[in-house]
Amino acid sequence: TILIVNFGGQYTHLISRRVRELSVYTEIVHYYNLSRDVIDSIKPRAIILSGGPSSIYEENAPRIDSWILDLGIPVLGICYGHQLIASMIGGRVERGYGEYGRTRIRIIERDPIFDGWSSEEDVWMSHSDYVAYIPSDKAKILAVSVDKNYIAAFRLIDRSVYGVQFHPEVIHTPKGRKLIENFVIGIAGAKPMWNPGNIIENIVNEIRSTVGEDEKVLCAVSGGIDSTTTALLVKKAIGDRLVAVFVNHGLLREGEAEEVLNMLRNLGINPIYIDASKMFLDALKGVRDCEEKRRIIGELFAKIFKDIVESDKFIKWLAQGTTYPDVIESGFVPGADRIKSHHNVAGLPSWLGLKLLEPIKYLYKDEVRAIALRLGVPEDWVYRHPFPGPGLAVRIIGEITEEKLRIVRRASKIVEEELRRSGLYRRVWQAFAVVGDDKWVGVKGDRRAVGYIVTIRIVESEDGMTADWSRIPLDVLDNIARRITSEIPEVTMVTYAITSKPPSTIEPC
Ligand code: XMP
Repeated sequence: TILIVNFGGQYTHLISRRVRELSVYTEIVHYYNLSRDVIDSIKPRAIILSGGPSSIYEENAPRIDSWILDLGIPVLGICYGHQLIASMIGGRVERGYGEYGRTRIRIIERDPIFDGWSSEEDVWMSHSDYVAYIPSDKAKILAVSVDKNYIAAFRLIDRSVYGVQFHPEVIHTPKGRKLIENFVIGIAGAKPMWNPGNIIENIVNEIRSTVGEDEKVLCAVSGGIDSTTTALLVKKAIGDRLVAVFVNHGLLREGEAEEVLNMLRNLGINPIYIDASKMFLDALKGVRDCEEKRRIIGELFAKIFKDIVESDKFIKWLAQGTTYPDVIESGFVPGADRIKSHHNVAGLPSWLGLKLLEPIKYLYKDEVRAIALRLGVPEDWVYRHPFPGPGLAVRIIGEITEEKLRIVRRASKIVEEELRRSGLYRRVWQAFAVVGDDKWVGVKGDRRAVGYIVTIRIVESEDGMTADWSRIPLDVLDNIARRITSEIPEVTMVTYAITSKPPSTIEPC
């Protein structure tokens, strides 16, 4: 077992997942629950200290006792963990200029942790605090960043205790996996023995033993891979006691409602279909703020579900397709910063008086996809891009009007069609259009025309937690831009969004 100590970092579960990809079991413990008893019962081969949003020099910064470094168990501190170890051995952490995104580092001291790394490599950074000093009698600097000359990695002398300022767990650190393997297998000597095996069977058994004999489970389906897989797992476990509901909030993509219904019916799920478009769009009139949109949409969903629950007293559970990223980004990990409130993890079940069932809570997207394929979901659906619960509401900046909705719907369709046509659709994580209120003067048929700006966002990502804009061929962008301005007369300018996450997010809203 590898023990991961969580300091509320965005990427804690990614670390865990990377280790599991090596077929080594992990457990995550919050830093405030870490004790000698925990170590004795888990008997970890190694310990990884995660990143986190705090600054070590602040008064109530999360800390752990320094005996953790004296156990003879290898320790790897990442980002905040790196700064924490430095401060535990008498080093100094200060606020610096910050390093964000792709950063080049130079390895100045060879060590097994960098096996397979060249003397210079790109890594992914996301920090403003940095280790300004470490005592040279206690630690050796292994690597520095090329631009700022900050300490990028160090190791305690004569001990397998390491700190790395960068994030080896994200895909944007190309040799990150290798570093984690070097640490977990090479340095800590963990044996690759953990095998997820029949993950479907485990989940189905778990649902069967959790849900009572005559209890029903309500499941909101959207056609997305998460909710579809959740519904299929529940269906497999308890058959017709699954009550699936598909709500059309009027913020779906072109043709989406019919396609989703067909797909679900082919899989043997016959959802209750509720077309509530008018109700949602009326409630959203005049609303400009993103979180306000999410709140309103979440509330209306809740009302609809309340009616359903009140009409069937056997419904005792709400199944949600929550996955790891949802859980983390909604700030459910104590200490993690709240970034966007994804309504699918709001306090819905308790308000409805239902118990919460989250069968895929510990899975990441690619794991969910693997399960979905096994359950018979057509490949095209399995590899469909993720689409946010509030739909096009988060792709319209400012007020949602019929005109903007029409523009974003049509433009998104064009983006999707052109990507499929050029064979790039599956290579990217999400691809869509965004519209706001800013205008751009154009000439259409020799006349001055003031029109909307449509922004195209195409990103590559592994799980939505970090992302980089896609370097898709300019010809494809050109086709998209031309089609949008010619097929949507209200648009006079098309732009392409080229900021990674972080510091940006994927959706504009
Ligand atoms: P951001 O924009 O936060 O998006 O970088 C990360 C991933 O989450 C999706 N997303 C949402 N999904 N409800 C959802 O169910 C939401 O309110 C929401 N906001 C963003 C987004 O599409 C991306 O895949």
